[in-house]
Amino acid sequence: MNKQASVRAAGIFNRRQFLKTAGAAMVLPLILPGCATGPARRVRPSNRINVGVIGWGMQGPANTKNLMFLEDCQVVAACDLDKTHLQDAVKTINGYYKNKDCHTYHDYRELLASDDIDAVMIAVPDHWHELIATEAARRKKDIYGEKPLAKTIAEQQAIVRAVRKNNIIWQTGSWQRSLPHFHKAAEIVRSGLIGKITRVEVGLPSGHNDFAKTAPELLARLKALKIDNLANVLPGTPAWDIAVTPPPAELDYEMWIGPSKMEPYIKQRVYKNWRWNYNTGGGQLLDWVGHHVDIAHWGLGFDNSGPSEIEGHGEFPAPNALWNTCTKYRVELKYPQDVTMILAGGHNDIKTGTKWIGTDGWVWVNRSSESNDKKSKEERAGFDCSNPDWKKGKHLAEELRKVKLYESSNHQRNFIDCVKSRKPTIAPVETAHHSAIPGHLGLISLLTGRKIRWDNATETILGDPEASKLLAREYRAPWKPS
Ligand SMILES: NC(=O)c1ccc[n+]([C@@H]2O[C@H](COP(=O)([O-])OP(=O)(O)OC[C@H]3O[C@@H](n4cnc5c(N)ncnc54)[C@H](O)[C@@H]3O)[C@@H](O)[C@H]2O)c1
Repeated sequence: MNKQASVRAAGIFNRRQFLKTAGAAMVLPLILPGCATGPARRVRPSNRINVGVIGWGMQGPANTKNLMFLEDCQVVAACDLDKTHLQDAVKTINGYYKNKDCHTYHDYRELLASDDIDAVMIAVPDHWHELIATEAARRKKDIYGEKPLAKTIAEQQAIVRAVRKNNIIWQTGSWQRSLPHFHKAAEIVRSGLIGKITRVEVGLPSGHNDFAKTAPELLARLKALKIDNLANVLPGTPAWDIAVTPPPAELDYEMWIGPSKMEPYIKQRVYKNWRWNYNTGGGQLLDWVGHHVDIAHWGLGFDNSGPSEIEGHGEFPAPNALWNTCTKYRVELKYPQDVTMILAGGHNDIKTGTKWIGTDGWVWVNRSSESNDKKSKEERAGFDCSNPDWKKGKHLAEELRKVKLYESSNHQRNFIDCVKSRKPTIAPVETAHHSAIPGHLGLISLLTGRKIRWDNATETILGDPEASKLLAREYRAPWKPS
């Protein structure tokens, strides 16, 4: 992906780009007090929504920049457990507003206790989602929270309960819903243009991606031991002893590991690369399920639905390896209405993105890429389908739109609008919960090596007490699940 494309993929727009697109396609919920989902938020004299941001790593800054571009939103506080990241947050936020007003916090509970904050943006590793989101909801803060909703299905359920109980607005970072070509693809499917859907193919990345670019430095130190892959570094070996170091002074590692099992500090498992260790993340499957399965469900009209049978096969490093998450996987899921979904990473027959196949045609959608490589026009656009007419235009032709899906042309704008209107966002908490469930159940099937049967109504695994244990996890004291 070139720089421009990756900036767009991360959801970063500058104010001018935003204004250009905002007028064109935005159909946002209007402020209709009579239909509000919850009590109206107190209007501040500034007429702005005050936002606190928690987590300033890869995604936190991208989300925050988009929030700062909105004139009716003011980012007033930042929190991170890493002093360097927090300093960077303050520099960026104060630099944008040209003031020194940003409050800083080490402990998210103190930020959430502040009455000056209406809403929060949370972009911390998955093992922290439940504790921070439920506390934010208890404190009546509206939440822009990241995908996947949480580390386990039980934690996701806790977040859903807390959001409902406290009547707060939730937006998930599944921002593909706010891009026109994903919207168009989902509308084609929902409008019945490809007939009855029989199969959905969802292609996700495989392996481990060294987002933090910290692997080469360790691999160089491991060269004499002939180790060229961090998935081959095991506890109790000389390589492991080389990998373990004291945590850096700027990071509160004890708190960073939080409710997860305490492990020695290894740089290559923390910043950005926590995804490749099941103690803190869920590998590629859980990292991406909240994007491409989220879109698959949108097209199917299954935002509150789920699979009934899930059967997967995958390849794993040793369970205690430095990077231990699944490297190649294929999961088959049976859905209502005789729909089969294939969820795969590292299988060439399943293209990255979401492809719905129906009795009368097909549609494929993915992130666009502006690179000048050998990709076809359709691959660069991230959109292809069986009928050339549907390729024309940013939006589906009006006469074909039998079903009109919720429209948002800016994910953060949609959040702030809903904070004000008290209407549901384009990616509310129940949707995030159901979008991630196939990933969690897929992983449970991969780990147990057997077919899982799921009851979507009661949200339970049927007839498999061992597999059911994997729906939740133990918390390290003093942390307790809510
Ligand atoms: N929507 C998207 O496109 C997208 C893209 C990337 C990441 N994400 C999601 O964003 C979340 C964060 O991922 P990332 O890649 O930015 O991780 P990261 O490791 O780059 O950054 C996380 C930051 O949170 C801080 N942190 C950790 N625990 C904390 C706590 N208890 N209190 C305060 N700060 C804490 C860390 O110090 C770090 O600065 C994940 O859930 C990830 O899935 C979403």
